[in-house]
Amino acid sequence: MAAAEEERFSRVKHDPRLPVSAFRFCLRAGGIGIDGLDAVAYYESPVKKLSRQLWAGIPEGASPDLPWLDPRAPERAIREGLGWDGPILTFDHHLSHAASAFFFSGFPESAVLTVDGVGEWTTTSYGRGKGAAVELFEEVGFPHALGLLYATLTSYLGFEVNDGEYKVMGLAPYGEPRFLDEMRRLVSPGPGGQYRLDLDYFDFVRGRRMYSEALPRLFGEEPRKPESEITRFHQDVARSLQALLEEILLAKASWLHEWTGLPDLCMAGGVALNVVANGRILREGPFERLFVQPAAGDSGACLGAAALAHAKLTGTAPEPLRHVYLGPRWTSGEIAGLLAATGIEALDFRDREADLLEAVVDRLESGNVIGWFHGPLELGPRALGGRSLLADPRDPGMRDRLNRLVKKREAFRPFAPSVLAGHAAEHFDLDHPSPYMLETCRVTSPLDLPAVTHVDGSARPQTVDPQVAPRYAALLEAFRRRTGCPLLVNTSFNVRGEPIVTSPVDALSCMGVSGIDVLVLEDFLIDRERLPANWADLLPAWRERARSGFARGKSAISEDLYTFV
Ligand SMILES: [Fe+2]
Repeated sequence: MAAAEEERFSRVKHDPRLPVSAFRFCLRAGGIGIDGLDAVAYYESPVKKLSRQLWAGIPEGASPDLPWLDPRAPERAIREGLGWDGPILTFDHHLSHAASAFFFSGFPESAVLTVDGVGEWTTTSYGRGKGAAVELFEEVGFPHALGLLYATLTSYLGFEVNDGEYKVMGLAPYGEPRFLDEMRRLVSPGPGGQYRLDLDYFDFVRGRRMYSEALPRLFGEEPRKPESEITRFHQDVARSLQALLEEILLAKASWLHEWTGLPDLCMAGGVALNVVANGRILREGPFERLFVQPAAGDSGACLGAAALAHAKLTGTAPEPLRHVYLGPRWTSGEIAGLLAATGIEALDFRDREADLLEAVVDRLESGNVIGWFHGPLELGPRALGGRSLLADPRDPGMRDRLNRLVKKREAFRPFAPSVLAGHAAEHFDLDHPSPYMLETCRVTSPLDLPAVTHVDGSARPQTVDPQVAPRYAALLEAFRRRTGCPLLVNTSFNVRGEPIVTSPVDALSCMGVSGIDVLVLEDFLIDRERLPANWADLLPAWRERARSGFARGKSAISEDLYTFV
């Protein structure tokens, strides 16, 4: 019924704190109070996690006052932070990942593969799900982890661990896999589902950084300094790493297929967000269908814990995931109130959806970047037409323009397209829906789509189903009618370093600090040139009001504006 990530409320990216605001939102969306719950589920075993942390040793420079040494801390936080005194059901981390994929896949039975950095002692797990049950039958133990291998090379390439892995994946197609032999020295495949890292090259267990001195020696270059120039060498290392990851995942998926004899595969864990590897597993691997949980990283492991709790308490599997529009939404009436309070001049298209869409298409055709705010916020790292930046994918200058004016991110990273589901096969080598942008495929379009086609001719499309996202699909259809192109550039509505916008105030703030030309807030359209002249002066106050409002889990503007559903 509802799901959201805490970072979208607190505006702290990857916020690791107890998700109090997200929890409150879910209760409100469900229309119940905390006393309406049967249980609170938690997604990892604090005791097992602590035993690994103790084995790894107290990190250098850590405070001697270590609250994390208390395995009761999560329970205490849930009791005190949420005010919950009922049962707390705790499930192992990889079982939570596995359940988050299988239970929501809609498959009656499937193989399950989870791959991440580490959860408790486990880094990779293999299992199967059937009906209301998920079981894991093999695992790889810390410190041997594909997630940590990828993170280590991400760090060596000068990007931030746990955040820059996407950048490495985006850089890879520019390079050649000429370091594949060196990469193979870092990890050796074992029997069955096993593999081992050569720990001589790594230092993440006890050190201050991810890699040891041996790693730069192996590749023959010093680590790249963050924000410094990206050279051919970095592209080739990224390509080699990606090739190695795909090679291992394909081999392990094949083994899992042989072992289970099942035609379908579910995946979760941070490594399952490697959409390039997912595409290869599906195309070249033995499985017929693949379901990747859209919030595959740790932020979505709670879905699995909740599903396991549901299965335990009811003996039945939860309903499959039908879409990820599960976060807060604002009505046009609330947005009208906000706009009136700010004095911002907006075009009002209430009860005139077709006119709104034509006005948006006019602006897309003139090369504008549109901030598109409609319906509930999406769960997971991808914007899927709820909080998206949209633009014309045929415009050869659009990638640079988006990067310069809005995203302020590395120019090499491609943008993804949304395409009307019924037209996807005309433009991509794709024979099934891809509603969550979780795999890449070849662009086969008769149109030239420079803004969304990567250097290797691939793209990461979102197929848009009119039944699931009617207004977004209608916009794509309106654009198609006008231009013959049923696609748009769809990138997440945020500036670099910030979480995706949640509220209308976040969207206005983002417009203020970026070069977005047009903002659509539900039925209202705001052109940048019609913003008040002193807009820039107003922004800091707006942002501060928004921030202090979200810290309390509601809007600073008025109680009513933070009505969730
Ligand atoms: Fe995880």
